[in-house]
Amino acid sequence: MILPNLNYSNLKNSYLFFRIAQKNKEYLEKNPDKHLYRMGIGDVSLPLCDAVIKALHEAVEDQSKKETFHGYMDECGAMFLREAIGKHYRNRGINIDNCEVFISSGASDELGDILDLFDKSNSALVIEPAYPAYVDANTMVGRNIIHYASSSENGFLPVPTKDLKADIIYICSPNNPTGAVFDREKLQKWIDYANENGSVILFDAAYEAFIEQDDLPRSIFELDGARTCAIEICSLSKTAGFTGTRCGYTIIPRELVRHGMSLNQMWIRNRTTKTNGVSYIIQRGAAAIFTEEGQRQIKENIKIYKQNAKCLTDTLDKLGIWYCGGKNAPYIWLKCPKNMGSWEFFDYLLNEIQVVGTPGEGFGKCGEGYFRFSTFGSAEDTKIASERLYGLLKE
Ligand code: MLT
Repeated sequence: MILPNLNYSNLKNSYLFFRIAQKNKEYLEKNPDKHLYRMGIGDVSLPLCDAVIKALHEAVEDQSKKETFHGYMDECGAMFLREAIGKHYRNRGINIDNCEVFISSGASDELGDILDLFDKSNSALVIEPAYPAYVDANTMVGRNIIHYASSSENGFLPVPTKDLKADIIYICSPNNPTGAVFDREKLQKWIDYANENGSVILFDAAYEAFIEQDDLPRSIFELDGARTCAIEICSLSKTAGFTGTRCGYTIIPRELVRHGMSLNQMWIRNRTTKTNGVSYIIQRGAAAIFTEEGQRQIKENIKIYKQNAKCLTDTLDKLGIWYCGGKNAPYIWLKCPKNMGSWEFFDYLLNEIQVVGTPGEGFGKCGEGYFRFSTFGSAEDTKIASERLYGLLKE
């Protein structure tokens, strides 16, 4: 009889956001007249910007004519998009070659797929609280996971300890869920650690577009030594509202070599075997993000999410509730009031004021007692949710 992947029995019963969606569904079944104010999963609420929509329409037209029709795309990404992204980095003074850019169908897919590059015997260090897919993807392959807890004492930005032994290192900055951002000095410590120990950093830069402070790095490749130890995984989901459109990109520098093997070449080998590339239409839409017009328009949308963040943090300030994030990131990480547990607080908000957030415990044990609000909801819902929150929690 076939043996299934027994590692699946080591996973939690259901994925965090699936569990929350189930709880919401059950609540609405029991209370069909209620509206939920959704600030749980980080799913965008604003439509794609005009530049992207125009490019998508034109690409559909291209597919209708023999002369401009495209069949299979380059597995590593269409050169027009790889070049647009490469140029976007070079304009910021980061030297990236177009062939170091790989187009993906999104960061969450890529964060799991990229593990193909590493032997199962490698350990994976996850700085927690963390996006739960890091742990789940490594649990599925049976990898040893180092749960590297952070806390408010180190600003949720820990650095490697002297005795640390880790092979794959996940760094998400700006962080999901805490909104904390690594500064150059702390990030350099991880780069130096990885180079000294032959580790590889998987740098999740999905939220880089939300950084406001110029002194904070938006790409790990802004720092010395990153080209020999890091892979950057980026998404257009939050940057440009692509959660339902699906496109992202990954940077693997040519200098990233382990055991004499180039990870860039290995990824080409992987992609040419395992994918037929991202759709032509989607890649044309994505390329429009990197035009001057596209950049201006996506920034307008981000501004609206930042106003949501301000609305929520003003409310937390008035309530005297501790929080971080919300400034250089689209997430606000708060301490549950009245010493409530994070799932307890989730149920309390859902039942009393129909506001949905994400319990901190879902991001790792050290997230217990905390809660996350996403700022990607509609401005109207965020405003009403903030008022309801204030009404419920004021003394
Ligand atoms: C989140 O809410 O943490 C993210 O939106 C989930 C994701 O990007 O898959």
